[in-house]
Amino acid sequence: MQLHKQHRIKMVFLNPNFQNPNGSLLDLERRRRVLEISSYYGIPIIEDDPYSLTAFDKTHVSTLKSMDQNGTVLYVSSLSKIVASGLRIGWIFGPQTVIERLADAKQQIDFGHSIIPEWIATQFLSSEDFSIHMHKLRDSLALNRDKIVFSLYDQLDDQVEFLIPEGGIHIWCKVKEDVSEQQLFKEAIKRGVVYVPGSVFGTQKGYARFTFGRAKEEHIHEAISRFADALRSFKKGK
Ligand SMILES: Cc1ncc(COP(=O)(O)O)c(C=O)c1O
Repeated sequence: MQLHKQHRIKMVFLNPNFQNPNGSLLDLERRRRVLEISSYYGIPIIEDDPYSLTAFDKTHVSTLKSMDQNGTVLYVSSLSKIVASGLRIGWIFGPQTVIERLADAKQQIDFGHSIIPEWIATQFLSSEDFSIHMHKLRDSLALNRDKIVFSLYDQLDDQVEFLIPEGGIHIWCKVKEDVSEQQLFKEAIKRGVVYVPGSVFGTQKGYARFTFGRAKEEHIHEAISRFADALRSFKKGK
């Protein structure tokens, strides 16, 4: 592979585990290849990994950083999806020199993070409650995932396609029928359902991202039923 100077890539940003929005895992072969290319051309990779600890089957999901022999991966994660987004706590692993420059930049931008959320996070992460919490979180996410998958099969079986996520908080659906994305979104909102239309992520049209992370289990079936009704409204020519 040849990269011409004018096309020089400065950095690659990847979310290999339970990717937002599509919930996929980057396969091992691609991970190896991406790392090879990154170290061959000296292109740093930012591995954005807020979801791997949510793996529903509780197995350890490997990270790109754990395979990185040459220090080209900067690993980033956060408590947002597993503890509380309001804490605004995240972390980064990388070469010392890069971390020092980033710390300096952060200091200049906002004088660094407040110590109080950091203190709360440290207390929680080092307590027994953290692992109890993680067990409960994975179980409840898996329950919500099952519920939304069941509802989609039940109510939209032949009208949508999706990958069943094994972790994370999103399910990414392809609406098979060629309907206006904006119109469908409006019809869904009229019925009290919000989701993120695929175009927000710059994909080809016809996708919807449903987030089941915080949904109450008992609301999921109703929400999908209202979305199905919004989709049906096109057929009725409303
Ligand atoms: C892949 C990914 N990275 C980062 C974030 C943002 O996380 P934070 O709240 O830690 O900024 C999100 C949130 O939706 C996400 O899905």
